[in-house]
Amino acid sequence: MPTQKAKRPASKGSSSRGSSAAKKSSSKSSGSRSSASKSSGSRSRSSGQDAVSLLTADHRRVQKLFKQAEKLESDDTEELQQLVMEACQELTLHADIEEELFYPALAAAADDDDQDLVREAMIEHRSARQMIQELQNMSPEDENYKPTFKVLGEYVNHHIEEEENDIFKAAKRAKLDMKELGQEIMQQKEAAGQGDAESGEEMGSASSESESQTDEEEETSGGGGRR
Ligand SMILES: [Fe+2]
Ligand SMILES: [Fe+2]
Repeated sequence: MPTQKAKRPASKGSSSRGSSAAKKSSSKSSGSRSSASKSSGSRSRSSGQDAVSLLTADHRRVQKLFKQAEKLESDDTEELQQLVMEACQELTLHADIEEELFYPALAAAADDDDQDLVREAMIEHRSARQMIQELQNMSPEDENYKPTFKVLGEYVNHHIEEEENDIFKAAKRAKLDMKELGQEIMQQKEAAGQGDAESGEEMGSASSESESQTDEEEETSGGGGRR
């Protein structure tokens, strides 16, 4: 299913757009609108975690769960159910955070060329949520339980790939304030019971698997859009 989506030429339309510079300067101020949603300021451990690092850590954590499920023996339904429940919970919180914080901030700041990226991501979330709901309503004994989880994993992997390759880059072009967004994400995670300790611990393993992403973040803080 994931592979059906036509691949977007990465730079399509960007060269023919004369107004993007002007647009970007105006979008920058709209991007900072999120400062209105007050961050508590007194956080020390999570304050250094930017949005891309946090979201990437979520991606790696859930990918690990899908991999673990693949390795299970076919009669290990109890363990499978545990993994499915955990992945579904993780994915739902992650999707909520992206839909409530990250995508709206990007949609407000990105230029026209990048708006479709956000729309596509939202549509993919909708399909993933349908599969999640199916799994949550399905018995682990159901012969479709494991296959459905596998398909969800493939779908999520495809989505993650596009998010990390296209959406995070669009966020960088739009000059989103990743630190501030990161604080808002941490607040929502904490409110949902996924606190500092867990994501801090997971960050270590995530960063080793996503070094290219980290390099990009460093570039981001150095500024300098490509368009
Ligand atoms: Fe994501
Ligand atoms: Fe997403």
